[in-house]
Amino acid sequence: MPPKAEWNTAALIAADKRYVWHPFTPMGEWCAPDHEPLVLVRGKGALLWDSKERQYIDGNSSIWTNIHGHNHPHINAAIARQLELVAHTSFLGFTNPAAVRLAEAIVGLFPARTLTRVFFSDDGSTGIEAALRIVEQFWRLRGSSRAQFIAFRDGYHGDTAGAAALGARAMFGGEGGEWRPPVQQIGSLAELTALPTAAVKQIAAVVIEPLVQGAAGMKLWPKGTLAALRAWTKGRGILLIVDEVLTGFGRTGTMFACDQESVFPDLMVLGKGLSGGYLPIALTLLSEEVFEPFSAGSSRERTFFYGHSYTGNSLACAAALASLELFSREPVLELLETKIAFLQAQAVKLRQMPWIQDVRQCGFILAIELSTPGPASIDACALAQAVCLEARRHGLLTRPIRNNIILMPPFCITKEQLRQSVTALRAAILRVCESRPEAAFV
Ligand SMILES: Cc1ncc(COP(=O)(O)O)c(C=O)c1O
Repeated sequence: MPPKAEWNTAALIAADKRYVWHPFTPMGEWCAPDHEPLVLVRGKGALLWDSKERQYIDGNSSIWTNIHGHNHPHINAAIARQLELVAHTSFLGFTNPAAVRLAEAIVGLFPARTLTRVFFSDDGSTGIEAALRIVEQFWRLRGSSRAQFIAFRDGYHGDTAGAAALGARAMFGGEGGEWRPPVQQIGSLAELTALPTAAVKQIAAVVIEPLVQGAAGMKLWPKGTLAALRAWTKGRGILLIVDEVLTGFGRTGTMFACDQESVFPDLMVLGKGLSGGYLPIALTLLSEEVFEPFSAGSSRERTFFYGHSYTGNSLACAAALASLELFSREPVLELLETKIAFLQAQAVKLRQMPWIQDVRQCGFILAIELSTPGPASIDACALAQAVCLEARRHGLLTRPIRNNIILMPPFCITKEQLRQSVTALRAAILRVCESRPEAAFV
């Protein structure tokens, strides 16, 4: 058990409200005098504690990142060992053992001649950014006019755009500094395959979240979509980028979501769970075919002018390696299989409730979609928010996506804790939806 400490909660909250700006957060509400943010101070396994020693189940794996649990001795030890050597060194012009070993281990997860090369970055967004830029330069180096990217409506792949738009990249050399990806959003595979031939010939790559669109509220793709997309892109010489930032490392029940449809994309982006939920790191994996034009000669034109200060960070790589080791040392995926089935059985209790429009499950991800009880003026998104706040009082932390409540805890959660999580959600939904919601939410 991690050591307890005395915290001055009131002082921390006051300083937070005075100095901090939180992501995706309406700061007016956050800073309101009656809002008491939780100050999370320690964790163990699937549990977190706040500064007042209240215990919670980490119901969304600390924003979908944690896999083996908090404060895992194996990952802790790996980071501590690396820390004794060095925390960070430049990856521009140098290499380091942790990054090299991680690249080798990750490539080793895929069959030969599929994904063979690793580009490092810091988070899901920059991993995707690297993938897009690699594809753009790939086609340029091949002398092709293919430049159009296709993405699926409701998809989410990150939120960086502004930094590069500010310019001055050109001073590092290479073309494409001022480039913005031309993206066409489409709604379905059928819509994609119906595009006219001339348009198809201009497609550089299609990007997809495999099996489930996470930030869309855990929208599931029809079975077979990914495999059909792979066949369609391959048949037309179009690159396929699979965004496994959310789904990678067991979240959908298999190591990668792609495994479930036997798909090997041309590029794959990994983030979030890569370091077990410990440190920010992402990888853009690519095939040797995509890498080839970048390595065929030493001109500036063939250099990929992209990277960040913390690229290849040794501590993050050590954490990621240790997390990967746990998959081979312990039957992580086998145990998860039984928990996925248990979660499915538990979810029946939620499915039967009157305010539930839909319950979707993809591996160890559960989305509970709320309908609006009573008057149409009641906002189901506000209701979901209120349910998550209420769930805290029952010992569960999670966050809604619009009118969806998400439950996706670390894999190490016990069945008893899973049962408690579903019970907490049930109690919170009952309490919020039955307590005259029109008074609270109109
Ligand atoms: C599928 C997917 N891709 C990319 C991202 C962006 O990752 P990050 O928040 O680490 O930049 C996310 C974040 O939720 C995601 O769900």
